[in-house]
Amino acid sequence: MFVLGIETSCDETSIGIVRDGKKILANIVLSQTEFHEKFHGVVPEIASRVHLTVINRLLEQALKQSKLKLDQIDCISVVNQPGLVGSLMVGVSFAKSLSLSLHKPLVSVNHLLAHLYANFLKNKAKFPYIGLLVSGGHTLLVMARNLFDYRVIGTTLDDAAGEAYDKVSKLMGLGYPGGPIIDQIARNYKGQDYIRFSSGLSKDPHNRFNFSYSGLKTAVLNFIKKNPDFDKARVAKGFQIAAISVLTDKTMDLAKKMNIKNICIAGGVAANSYLRELFLKESKEKRYTIYIPEMDLCTDNGAMVAGFAYHKAKKGDFDNLEMDVYSRPKGGPISYLKNGL
Ligand code: KG4
Ligand code: ZN
Repeated sequence: MFVLGIETSCDETSIGIVRDGKKILANIVLSQTEFHEKFHGVVPEIASRVHLTVINRLLEQALKQSKLKLDQIDCISVVNQPGLVGSLMVGVSFAKSLSLSLHKPLVSVNHLLAHLYANFLKNKAKFPYIGLLVSGGHTLLVMARNLFDYRVIGTTLDDAAGEAYDKVSKLMGLGYPGGPIIDQIARNYKGQDYIRFSSGLSKDPHNRFNFSYSGLKTAVLNFIKKNPDFDKARVAKGFQIAAISVLTDKTMDLAKKMNIKNICIAGGVAANSYLRELFLKESKEKRYTIYIPEMDLCTDNGAMVAGFAYHKAKKGDFDNLEMDVYSRPKGGPISYLKNGL
């Protein structure tokens, strides 16, 4: 089955084509960074407009790359939640018109589940697993029993991990998006004289699996105010260690507590070099099998959408032309446990 996956939830426009939930035939991504960087963040109306103007071109490129004709596509899938409402509406309207004109079924996909599914494309992840989903909008620790059963065990109480990177980058006078920029500066700093910042909620027993980034952000801000000639590399390194080590520590703590051996990492922050290094160390000890998608499957892309949609289509779980969009996750197979476990 050839599934087309459409992703327009934030500031990447992407179309992927995946065969049988596994084989990526095309995964065209247009990053809108150049349109948003001067504002140091995503401007929703600009994002929607760019999706609108480029999406058809991306479809043509994806078809060309996969050597398929539009009428060979068996199913149209699209992210309808969570995300920027105006952006989601562009992708969903496009998906509806394709479905209607080609007489092909329509499948809605939750963006968060699509991110986690990235571990089942080139990697062969296994259930049950502990999932760490870290992106610009989300920081979630989940326990996944199967493709359609997820329990959220921890989340951020304020900013998402990627959002913290983006905000700290702005404070430091660096560019957007902040994640890759801070990561590169931190990686290149080889000294030990980095600024020590503490990680949010690292020792709070009431929030054993939750995260908080606002304190860390304020600590960086205070440091910069007190030291206007600060060394960017020492601050970037200190921030990166504090921001990432709490993610790996809590993920491993949960895996140990639940005695679950498979761990899946997903989302844009999964591209972080220090996070990958720390998880690689853990996996070398061989007690846990840790899956992290290749870099291009960490950030938003259409292939992860098409991959997950294949399994919904196989169950006959289709949508109709009344499909709506949601800024926050609504319904579906994710349940939130109020007090952690
Ligand atoms: O998953 P994604 O593409 O979009 C959302 O669903 O949010 O994630 C984008 C986020 C941005 O906040 C960006 O700064 C962050 O991922 N990011 C990184 C790195 N690459 C992207 N954060 C830390 N280190 C990186 N190397
Ligand atoms: Zn995302």
